[in-house]
Amino acid sequence: MERITVIGAGNVGATCANVIAHKNLASEVVLVDIKEGVAEGKALDIWQTSSINNFDTRVVGCTNDYLRTKGSGVVVITSGVPRKPGMSRDDLIKTNARIIYEVTEKVVKYSPEAIIVVVSNPLDVMTYAAWKAANKPAHKVFGMAGILDTGRYTAFLATALDVSPKDIHALLLGGHGDSMVPLRRYTSVKGIPITELLGKDEIDKIVERTRKGGGELVNLMGTSAWYAPGAAAAQMVESIVDDQKRIFPVCARLNGEYGINDLYIGVPVKLGKNGIEEVIELNLNQKEYNLLHESANQVRALVKVFDNMNVAGSDDRG
Ligand code: LAC
Repeated sequence: MERITVIGAGNVGATCANVIAHKNLASEVVLVDIKEGVAEGKALDIWQTSSINNFDTRVVGCTNDYLRTKGSGVVVITSGVPRKPGMSRDDLIKTNARIIYEVTEKVVKYSPEAIIVVVSNPLDVMTYAAWKAANKPAHKVFGMAGILDTGRYTAFLATALDVSPKDIHALLLGGHGDSMVPLRRYTSVKGIPITELLGKDEIDKIVERTRKGGGELVNLMGTSAWYAPGAAAAQMVESIVDDQKRIFPVCARLNGEYGINDLYIGVPVKLGKNGIEEVIELNLNQKEYNLLHESANQVRALVKVFDNMNVAGSDDRG
């Protein structure tokens, strides 16, 4: 791919650009920020690791110059303010929705064909805001959260079992927040169901810690995480750019799948060069189905906050 753009040169955006460069996913990665010099500086710093880390991808930064992003194949949007201690993801909505909407309009102006991956929080509603602004089919606008949440779940399991995280397979559904639904029935270690390896109480604790995984890091660091979020977004970009058709939990717009209509929420999808190539519908049991729908209700409440803001003016694409 010729060009990939990452909007927002904060910790998450810069980490994402760094991982994209390490994986040589494009001829060029453009990092954009609103703060004069920040994207230029971080891009230069990353580019200066190219001979050390053996990559060719040019990394360049610019301040608000969307012309520089022209013709990008994939654009990752990380803009917005991060969550502060004591602030829920939901508190972020008012500030970040306007930013995401405006950024997406500028992105689409210069890269009308781009696939857009949203990383900003609160994730599910920001992805919806970007879709509203982008005026593109939903299979080309989606959000990153499930890979991050699964990454946390997997890391906790690997520590508890003292096994390689590479041997753990797991899936999660639902919104990116405390209502997410880690699916223990779809969690295994080299094919061995997790329920054969850990007791119920231990799994319960890990599921709970995963749900609150973002908050745990905010409390430790005074700001939200970036290594795992940045790497997770880059993994989605890789599956798209290399047309890998990997299956990941992604924040996707549902139209009837899982009994949910017109809502962006986390579900397993196949990611390839066309973006979301398939939404995979699992055969959920009643308990899983109910948890997913509870999560969907929470996401809907946030979407309402966004819709009531009327950022999109009178425009209504449903
Ligand atoms: C987290 C934030 C970035 O979960 O959403 O760490």
